[in-house]
Amino acid sequence: MSQAYQPDSAKTSIKKVSVSSESPPKHKTLLRLLSYLKPYWWALLLTVVGFAINAGTEIWIAKLLQYITDAINQNDQSKKALFPLLIIGLFFVRGVGSFLGNYYSALVSRNLVYELRVEVFNKLLRLPSSFYLANPAGTISSKLIFDVEQVTAASTDSMKTLLRDGLTVVALIGFLLYSNWRLTLILFVVLPPILWLIRIASKRYLKLSKGIQKTMGNVSHITNEVIGGYQVVKNYGGQAYEAERFDKTSKKNLRQGMKVVVTNSINTPAVQLLMAMAMSVVVWLALRPAVIDNISAGEFISYIAAAGLLSKPVRSLTDINQKLQKGIAAGESIFALLDEPEEEDTGTINKALSGEMSLENISLIYPDSTVALHDFTLNIKAGETVALVGRSGAGKSSLVNLLTRTLEASSGQITLDGMPIESIKLESLRAQIAMVNQQVVLFNTTVFNNIAYGSLANKTQAEVERAAKDAFAHDFIMKMPNGYQSEVGAEGLQLSGGQRQRLSIARALLKDAPILILDEATSALDNESEYYIQQALDNVMKDRTTLVIAHRLTTIESADRIAVMDGGQIVELGTHDELMQLQGHYAQMYERDFE
Ligand SMILES: Nc1ncnc2c1ncn2[C@@H]1O[C@H](COP(=O)(O)OP(=O)(O)O)[C@@H](O)[C@H]1O
Ligand SMILES: [Mg+2]
Repeated sequence: MSQAYQPDSAKTSIKKVSVSSESPPKHKTLLRLLSYLKPYWWALLLTVVGFAINAGTEIWIAKLLQYITDAINQNDQSKKALFPLLIIGLFFVRGVGSFLGNYYSALVSRNLVYELRVEVFNKLLRLPSSFYLANPAGTISSKLIFDVEQVTAASTDSMKTLLRDGLTVVALIGFLLYSNWRLTLILFVVLPPILWLIRIASKRYLKLSKGIQKTMGNVSHITNEVIGGYQVVKNYGGQAYEAERFDKTSKKNLRQGMKVVVTNSINTPAVQLLMAMAMSVVVWLALRPAVIDNISAGEFISYIAAAGLLSKPVRSLTDINQKLQKGIAAGESIFALLDEPEEEDTGTINKALSGEMSLENISLIYPDSTVALHDFTLNIKAGETVALVGRSGAGKSSLVNLLTRTLEASSGQITLDGMPIESIKLESLRAQIAMVNQQVVLFNTTVFNNIAYGSLANKTQAEVERAAKDAFAHDFIMKMPNGYQSEVGAEGLQLSGGQRQRLSIARALLKDAPILILDEATSALDNESEYYIQQALDNVMKDRTTLVIAHRLTTIESADRIAVMDGGQIVELGTHDELMQLQGHYAQMYERDFE
């Protein structure tokens, strides 16, 4: 490959989102995520209020135990009626607090999902085609569905844990210090080793559960292969091989699962044992009047209760970082997409086009360095019909995609009516080109809306019917249960390939643009309907510039000129008769067609 048509790097900057090499610093991503919470400061405030009430009641549970114990000890009957009421009141307040906290933190997180999702979707609408060429559809949609959910689950989960459990811990420690600071200091000495043990166990747990996820992935992968390829498995006697492969993976999954059980079963009693040791130290000291001031039985019980209440929130606070990391990772992936450069519209000209086109020395190199067009030159007069023929892979579709700027030429110049294509406003350019692609795209809506799609939505019933008649679609549409108002269904699955193609032709005809491009628009049609559509198309082509790509050469015999393409270049150019006389590629192809 010569240096001459190396791509200009600025023009072919097609890259994958997920493979962005240097990810931004973690705190930047976190700050950017937090900036989404700004409008919800009031809900966050209510969340804090709710969880603060919740934390306050934890102290009161401990305090209540003290009063009850002391009342029993002193045989005090005066508060008999008071305690039951206090218990109910306490849990009522606690309920209100946790409702406020849970409701408003959920309100923030659901709104965050909504906002991120809408932002990502709107971004998708503005991304250039190069983005879609470089990223598989599955990856893109998983960002919209999975990553967005993941980011909010992880980030608002950690916020919720931080507020709820953080406030509880602060309140309980405050209470412990207040009721007996000396005992509490001792508690602080024994707490760290316990936390350390919890951390080790939860790290191991995380590692193991990742392993389980992976082996589960393999299990479902093998299952899918066998289900999808059941015919090959049967015909080639692959049963024994598949059974062994599946058994191996399932055994691995079993072992991983058992390891998790072992970790958990050892960890929980070990932590409890350590806690018991800590408690025993506290109890031992508390019972020695020389060390600790005399305390009442009630105070002692409430102290132990409060220390016990501490363990759950402390435990969940140790997991907070892991949740946060998950959210940040998902956030990075979403922000990488949101930061993708959008489709650039440098054009300013907004003029009616006559349809005159000139393509000068066009080269097109795909990101995988496939050369689709090489030094391609062709001038087309306004109103002319030019047919492009050539074997598949010759570069025909790539060429027509340059005209709508779906693709960008690597070098060379395209002009329309003498104006460089880049100087024409994208919207104006695309409004003046009606294109029928090889791949028919139908939407999950009515036949009418599929033909009158997008900027054609304001067309009348009569106009839509006219276009459908020209595309030989009217008859089969009328046979559908609700005529033009029939639902096509997801991706138009209830329609045959030929019917789908006719709807797509009707859509292009309705556009009534000065430039018409038909890229194997009739390939799925039977000979008879192709013949009829051809007649209608011949009519439509008369007063506009048409580029037609066809695999059946009989349909393009009447074109003003025929360009035979091979390897991204024109190898023959002329009318049907001229090319037949030439006895070259075209004549050969034509004769093969007739055999
Ligand atoms: N998205 C793409 N990425 C990389 N190569 C591509 C892509 N689309 C087409 N090509 C390659 O470009 C060449 C021309 O393809 P295309 O324009 O589709 O040919 P035609 O329409 O004449 O069959 C082929 O070699 C094809 O493999
Ligand atoms: Mg093609």
